[in-house]
Amino acid sequence: MSEQIRAETDGGMMTLTFARPEKKNAITDAMYAALADALDRAEADPEVRAVLFRGEGDSFSAGNDLADFARFGVEPQKIAGANVFRFLHALARAQTPLVAAVRGRAVGVGTTLLLHCDLVFVAEDARLSTPFVDLALTPEAASSLLLPARIGHPRAFAMFALGEAIDGRTAAAWGLANAALPADEVEARALAAAQALAQRPPGAVQAAKRLMRDADALREVIDREVEIFAARLTTAEAAQAFQAFLSRGPGRTAG
Ligand code: COA
Repeated sequence: MSEQIRAETDGGMMTLTFARPEKKNAITDAMYAALADALDRAEADPEVRAVLFRGEGDSFSAGNDLADFARFGVEPQKIAGANVFRFLHALARAQTPLVAAVRGRAVGVGTTLLLHCDLVFVAEDARLSTPFVDLALTPEAASSLLLPARIGHPRAFAMFALGEAIDGRTAAAWGLANAALPADEVEARALAAAQALAQRPPGAVQAAKRLMRDADALREVIDREVEIFAARLTTAEAAQAFQAFLSRGPGRTAG
């Protein structure tokens, strides 16, 4: 288990904390491995009736670690074994209800993982963004299907292709979250919601979730996206975008 992912099980719930606040909770390969393992444990443990995602510090997550992306660009043979795919598959097949508490920035997979959560609470001043094209990349985590389905094609395209960020109030208004709240109320509200889920009949909760989403179809979309995403990672324009951020050049992403 990576120290930068904390998994705590208590009272019928597993809390998964992104605990790399000094890097805005950017997610490394080791963190994806820990997340995938934790989700697998949650699915296998009948005592875990809800999983809560939260971030330590001022951001939910700045998305995939860009240094890792840059490394994949020069070592493309390692992409196939990347733990992010294990995590995305685990998200797609999760039957345990997933809840998220989002404060601050949620970039890239920090936003697209919310599309797999069943209840989402955001800070009014949170900023959600999916600037894939700015990084010369493409949508992932089945977001090419789920985001336009949720908010409509033009809004989704503006988020993907123009890197437009939305605040928490907009996210709630567009159906990406249950509620936008003052930042200091988000965690308590999400925790209460996860606890409430944990008290419902688990078989019925899971059956309702299964009826509401087609896990096999999601996995197919994820796999299709991965092929294109992996090819994009090795392009010169992607390498340039990663270096621009890592060296704080003019192309730095701030969506
Ligand atoms: N990968 C690697 N490191 C990251 C990171 C990421 N995705 N996001 C932030 N960091 C690091 C920064 O490099 C910085 O490290 P340093 O202190 O060693 O220089 C630290 O986290 C703090 O980030 P900083 O950019 O100084 O904070 P900020 O408040 O000014 O901006 C963000 C926060 C999230 C808007 C900005 O960091 C950002 O745009 N990150 C990249 C997001 C991204 O493109 N993710 C991939 C999506 S597919």
